[in-house]
Amino acid sequence: MKLLVTGGCGFIGSAFVRLALSRGAEVVNLDKLTYAGNPENVADVADDEGYRFVHADIADAEAVAAAVKGVDAIVNFAAESHVDRSILDPTEFINTDVVGTAVLLEAARTAGVGRFVQVSTDEVYGSIPHGAFRETDPISPSSPYSASKAGGDLQVLAWHRTFGLDAVITRGSNTFGPRQYPEKLIPLFVTNALDGLQLPVYGDGMQVRDWIYVDDHCEGIWTAMTLGEAGEVYNVGGGHEEPNMEITRRILALTGRDESLIRHVADRLGHDRRYALDTTRLRSLGWEPQRSFDEAIAATVEWYRDRRAWWEPIKSGEYRRYYEEQYGAR
Ligand code: NAD
Ligand code: DAU
Repeated sequence: MKLLVTGGCGFIGSAFVRLALSRGAEVVNLDKLTYAGNPENVADVADDEGYRFVHADIADAEAVAAAVKGVDAIVNFAAESHVDRSILDPTEFINTDVVGTAVLLEAARTAGVGRFVQVSTDEVYGSIPHGAFRETDPISPSSPYSASKAGGDLQVLAWHRTFGLDAVITRGSNTFGPRQYPEKLIPLFVTNALDGLQLPVYGDGMQVRDWIYVDDHCEGIWTAMTLGEAGEVYNVGGGHEEPNMEITRRILALTGRDESLIRHVADRLGHDRRYALDTTRLRSLGWEPQRSFDEAIAATVEWYRDRRAWWEPIKSGEYRRYYEEQYGAR
């Protein structure tokens, strides 16, 4: 099986590239290498026989048409993925998450690609006070990020219904693990805590997220790709719900810091209060998360503790400007 994986130099995409190669697939990794794309994330497989890298934008129709030749499936991870950046400037979110997805779909249709997998997010459903979202629930995104991902999902469904493209959508919950860009809650708080810096908790910190370890998320995508029904959506949730304040306290305990590092700052605009997913549909295909949250968060903190060479260059580069803009005025 030959796969075109887009965004394979990012956090989840790089874990999926590793998984796909370990399963004997050939992988073409097409990535624009934005601030979030890091060739280091796939350095361990860069010389594998079955691996090839293409430096390109998913919105570049010519580059995509060339890359798609001979592939059996496209797995689209490429996206602008951070809610706070979408609030500072939504433009690139539309270019990549909406236009880029449409370009990939057209390339898949034209080349007759056998399966299209759209890696989406639980954020498209919006916030839920009680219970859990099912795949049949309406979407109601809150942020420019989640609206751009919802736009991508709707196009995928349209290409399936109108052109008969064989496509599935996965909607994953909050993912954590090694190689996550340190703008997201867990890697930001872990690396700040390791350096004795403040942990900026938005609002009261009682927002709830449903956490999943990155390898469990990738297994869920693999299951939907290989066993999912065309035209269907599959929720991929870890089932571990926890308020941000609890996550923060765990990180302080695991890094040997105390609560004096916690700083409550102005809340995120349009901040969703709670996410939760019903994963019955994916579980019916045999998938279930393998790692307990306790074990996975401890291993993740350990990874960042041992890999300063991975995150220190990131946090001293372009990131500083973003950090000032995001947290300076709060
Ligand atoms: P990330 O920000 O770490 O990586 C994104 C990757 O996409 C980078 O390598 C970047 O260079 C690449 N990219 C961005 N724009 C591109 C373009 N126009 N053309 C080609 N490549 C481009 O993201 P992530 O956290 O690994 O998320 C991957 C996917 O999973 C995204 O689609 C995201 O919406 C989805 N998702 C993420 C989470 C999460 O918690 N991180 C949860 C559910 C779903
Ligand atoms: O739910 C899936 C989504 O999870 C993915 O689609 C997104 O790509 C991914 O970024 C993530 O979105 P969130 O907005 O939930 O994740 P983030 O890590 O940015 O924030 C998690 C929670 O922590 C959220 O309630 C906001 C809060 N937070 C975040 C940061 C960065 C803080 O309190 N302080 C912070 O500095």
